Amino acid sequence: MSGADTRQAAAQARITELRAQIEQHNYRYHVLDDPLVPDAEFDRLMRELAELEAEHPELVTPDSPTQRVGGAPAEGFEEVRHAVPMLSLANAFSADEVQDFDRRVRGGLETESVIYAAEPKLDGVAIALTYENGRLLRAATRGDGQRGENVTANVRTIPSVPLRLRGGGWPHRLEVRGEIYMPLAGFRAYNETASAAGEKTLVNPRNAAAGSLRQLDPAVTASRPLAFFAYSVALADGLADSHSAAMKQLREWGLPVNPEARTVQGAEGCLAYHAELQRKRERLPYEIDGVVYKVDDRTQQDTLGYVSRAPRWALAHKFPAQEEVTRLVSIDVQVGRTGALTPVARLEPVFVGGVTVTNATLHNEDEIRRKDVRAGDWVVVRRAGDVIPEVVSVILERREGASPEFVMPVACPVCGSAVERIEGEAVARCSGGLFCPAQRKQSIRHFASRHAMDIEGLGDKLVEQLVDGELVHSVADLYRLGVEQLAALERMGQKSARNLVDELQRSKRPELARLLYALGIREVGEVTAGSLARHFGDLEALMAADEEALTAVPDVGPVVAHHVHAFFREPHNLEVIRALQQAGLEWQAPREAAGPGPLAGQTWVLTGALSMPRMRARSLLESLGAKVAGSVSRKTSVVLAGEAAGSKRARAEQLGVEVIDEEAFRRLLAEHGLQAD
Ligand code: IVH
Repeated sequence: MSGADTRQAAAQARITELRAQIEQHNYRYHVLDDPLVPDAEFDRLMRELAELEAEHPELVTPDSPTQRVGGAPAEGFEEVRHAVPMLSLANAFSADEVQDFDRRVRGGLETESVIYAAEPKLDGVAIALTYENGRLLRAATRGDGQRGENVTANVRTIPSVPLRLRGGGWPHRLEVRGEIYMPLAGFRAYNETASAAGEKTLVNPRNAAAGSLRQLDPAVTASRPLAFFAYSVALADGLADSHSAAMKQLREWGLPVNPEARTVQGAEGCLAYHAELQRKRERLPYEIDGVVYKVDDRTQQDTLGYVSRAPRWALAHKFPAQEEVTRLVSIDVQVGRTGALTPVARLEPVFVGGVTVTNATLHNEDEIRRKDVRAGDWVVVRRAGDVIPEVVSVILERREGASPEFVMPVACPVCGSAVERIEGEAVARCSGGLFCPAQRKQSIRHFASRHAMDIEGLGDKLVEQLVDGELVHSVADLYRLGVEQLAALERMGQKSARNLVDELQRSKRPELARLLYALGIREVGEVTAGSLARHFGDLEALMAADEEALTAVPDVGPVVAHHVHAFFREPHNLEVIRALQQAGLEWQAPREAAGPGPLAGQTWVLTGALSMPRMRARSLLESLGAKVAGSVSRKTSVVLAGEAAGSKRARAEQLGVEVIDEEAFRRLLAEHGLQAD
C-alpha cells in the first residue's frame, strides 16, 4: 500500500469511529435525554470529523453528521404524494365528548374496557419521514393529506431527526410520522437575540416551527432551534401489534418519542391523564394544545377503521385556547404597592385560557412602544395557566384609523405626584410613596395577604373604603378599628365586622418572617424574609444592621441589602413599626432557630427544570435544615429531579440515591407547612 493509501485507510477508520460516537451522543442527548459528555466534547468530535472530511472529500457520505446542511437554496418545494394519506383527528373539548368517544369505541369493539395510548398533542407541524434501509430518504409535510411538500433538505438540519437508524431489524422501508416543533427555550433565546439585533421576532413556537420548515434555504432552517417527536408509523406491516410497542421500537431505533406518553384504561384513565398534563403544561419545555388518545391495539384499530378523514380509534382532547383575539378599548395606568406604574389594557370581554378576561397587562412603556399597541386596536390576548393575562401583539391589518401613541403620564394618575423613571430601568414609578392612596391600598392588601399576615375578611373593596374614608392611613391603623366603625361601612354587617376584628386580634402574634414579608420592603419576598429572620433572630438587630452586615445573609445581594437598609432609615416606616408595637403586635422568633430542622443532616441535589426558581427550592430546603449540593455522590440523600433531568438523575439511580419529582417535593413541603408558590 502506498503512503497515501495508508493515510486514507487511517482517515476512513477514524471517520467511521467518529460518526459512530457522534450518533451515539445524539441518541443519548435527543432520545434518552441523558447526555454522556458535555457539549464541548461533542463539538470537538464534530470538528475533528469535519476537518478529516475536508482533507478527504472522497470519504464524505450524505448521511455523515456533518452533512445536515448542504447544497444551494431551492427554487421551491417538490410535490410528494403520500403512500398512506395523512389524516386528521376528531376533536373533543369536554369530558362528555371523551366519554361519548369511549362509548363508541367500546360499542364498535363489543368490549367492556379499552386500553388507550395517551400522549401530548404537540403544537407544531406534522411531518412524514421515510427511511429506506435505515437511511433518511425523504421528509414531507402533510399538505392536504394526500400531497405534501418535500422538505428533506430542511428536516436533515434538525439534530433530533436521525439521518441513520440505530441497531437493525428495521423494515426495508419505514415511514414514521411525527411533529416538528420549536422548544420554548430555543424560541425565547432566538427572539432575544433577534430583538437585540433589531431583527424580526417569531410570533409563537407553532408559527416559528412552520415558518422555519418552509424556508427555501436550509441554512436558515438550520439556524432555528427545531426538534422532533415521532407519534405514529404509517407503513408498519409486521412491526408491532400495539401502538405503544411500535413507539418503543422507534425509540430503540433512535427516533425520539414523547416521554410523557403512557397507556391508560378507559375514559376514566384518559380524563385523569388529561388533568395531569394540564397541570404539567406550564412546566413542559414545549407547547402542547391538548392530549391525544389512541386505541392501543392495532387489530382493534383496524376493526374500528376510519370515518371521512379521521380514524375512529383516535381523539384529540384539546385544552382551552390560550390565545384569543379581542378589541382593546383603552389603556389605563395602575399604581402598584411600590409605586410602579403598569399600563393595563381594558378589553372587550374574551374567553381565553378557560376564563373570561377583561384586563390584560401591557407590562411597561417600552413594551407598548415595541408592540405599537393603541386604543381601539384588535389584539391577541394570552392567558397561560395562572399567569396574568397579557397583550401579545396587535393585528395591524385590522387597525382602522390610528389613535395616538400611548404616553406614560408625567404625574401619578392617583395622587398627582411626579412620575420618575430611573435611567436603565423599564419601570416608571409614582414618587408619592405612602402619600399616594393607591400605594397605600396595595400595601395594606399585601400586609393582609395569605402569605403575609393572613388576615381573612379584608377584601379589596373594604380596603378601598377604609383608605378613601381616611379610616386607615397605615397598616398599624387596622388594629384600631372597632366593630361599630366597621359595621357602618358598605356591605359590612355586625357579624363580618366582629369576625374581622377577631381576625386582626389573632394576627397579632406573627412569625417574624411573615411580618418582614408583610411590611412590603422592596425585593424582599417570602424566602428573603425567612433568611433575614433566621439570620438576625429579632427585628431590632435587623433594623440596626448596615448594608455590609445584610449582605452576609444567605441569598441577600447588594441590591436587596440596599433596599432593606433604606427601608429602616425611612422615618415613616419606623413610625409604622412603633405603632404596630403599641397596638400590641408581638412577633415570634423564627421557628428554625429553636432547633435543627426536620431535614437536618440531609444533602440534596437539584436537577432538571422546576416550575419554581431553583433559588426558591434551595431556600425552602435550607429552611428545613437540609444542605444543597451541586453534584451527586454516595453522600447525597435525595435528588430532586425536574423536567428533562439528565445525567445527575442517571448518576443517582446508578448509586441507588433516592430520586423524587416536583410533585413529591411539594407534598413534602406541605407536610412541613411550607408552600412553594
Ligand atoms: S396522531 C391518525 N398524535 O395533530 C392519527 N397527532 O389533527 C394522526 N399532532 O397535525 C395524528 N401531536 O401533526 C397524533 N401525539 C400526536 C400528535 C398529533 C400533534 C398533530 C398532527 C396533526 C394534528 C391532527
